[in-house]
Amino acid sequence: MTKYKIAWLPGDGIGVDVLEAAKIVLDKIGLDAEYIHGDIGWEFWCKEGDAFPERTIDLLKNVDAAMFGAVTSKPGKAAQAELTPELQKLGPTYRSPIVRMRQMFGLYNCLRPCKAYPGNPLNYKEGIDLVVFRENTEDLYSGVEFNPVPAALAEILTKVSKPFIPFSTLPLDQYAVSCKINTRKGSERIVRVAFEFARKFKRKKVTIVHKANVVRATDGLFLEIAKEVSKSFPEIQFDDANVDAMTMWLLKNPFNYDVLVAPNLYGDIISDLCAQMVGGLGFGCSGNIGDKLAVFEPTHGSAPKYAGQYKVNPIATILAVKMMLDWLGEGEKGCMVEKAVANIIKEGRVRTYDMGGKATTLEMAQAIAAKM
Ligand code: NAI
Ligand code: MG
Repeated sequence: MTKYKIAWLPGDGIGVDVLEAAKIVLDKIGLDAEYIHGDIGWEFWCKEGDAFPERTIDLLKNVDAAMFGAVTSKPGKAAQAELTPELQKLGPTYRSPIVRMRQMFGLYNCLRPCKAYPGNPLNYKEGIDLVVFRENTEDLYSGVEFNPVPAALAEILTKVSKPFIPFSTLPLDQYAVSCKINTRKGSERIVRVAFEFARKFKRKKVTIVHKANVVRATDGLFLEIAKEVSKSFPEIQFDDANVDAMTMWLLKNPFNYDVLVAPNLYGDIISDLCAQMVGGLGFGCSGNIGDKLAVFEPTHGSAPKYAGQYKVNPIATILAVKMMLDWLGEGEKGCMVEKAVANIIKEGRVRTYDMGGKATTLEMAQAIAAKM
């Protein structure tokens, strides 16, 4: 019996390339684990009408953690058109497997560390070290959406709306509604993990990102709860900022910030901004963490134009491996992986195309593994 069971979900496009690279590093570090392949992605949508088949859901119920590559997705009509003719008649609707996975398994904490490793030619500024906590299950990603709008909802909107949208006379197919839903529980637990992280790793400050002056109900609740939670962490500085201003301040002076916490959509946006400041998509790693299961991934997508070329940078995925090792309680191994990555970046001998080099995905992984 191995110590750990890890679900292995390469998905589509370069998801396959980067997980192959991740495996080189895991094999070298000697994690006592069984890696079990799971089907996920576009191929299964086209063939089965489900990008996240039941068998993969069952697999995730029985593992300690998962590594996920990336999936391809296409909007509305384009997605329907690629189904087999039989499936088209049954008319399944595409839903993002990763969003479903996050909700189904309660992976409420999306943790995205963004660190500028010294010597990376893609660093915006040396010394950036930000950690973004993004709420991962609620907010505008709740999946409660209407297009066209049901009559019952139109009736409620007619009663509550201000006169600038004439809902009473507007045909139901002439507008769409996506609900932003933030619960007290969901907001509290993400803010709490951010503060607990700050305490554990002696971080100085936690900044709440919101738009509570305009989006008063949901972001107002988020901010109010954050203020309550902050009282239990008096040693940690606490502040808040509007999301629009935050993007400017982050670029102007990233060193003013430390730990950032935000509802789902704002967290998605600012974490991409932070990732770009430390090298871009080849460096952005992410954990989708719940109480029982955690799924680790690079933040980038399947980059179809590079699929199977072994050209893209595997560092984002290898840093996701580091996060997984930490989460499993294998911090020493996690630290070895991170040191090896830092070493390779600093040396500058082995670089993928995004860093201005010619190394392949697997050569980069082998070079990192050789440092461990
Ligand atoms: P993308 O992240 O796949 O790629 C955009 C561009 O970024 C690539 O063409 C490439 O130039 C660069 N890039 C990405 N990863 C890189 C790496 N590791 N090293 C070096 N350069 C890298 O985003 P795009 O093109 O918008 O989406 C492609 C597909 O991926 C779409 O179907 C989209 O829906 C999906 N997607 C999936 C995600 C996921 O599975 N979590 C996240 C984002 C997009
Ligand atoms: Mg994103």
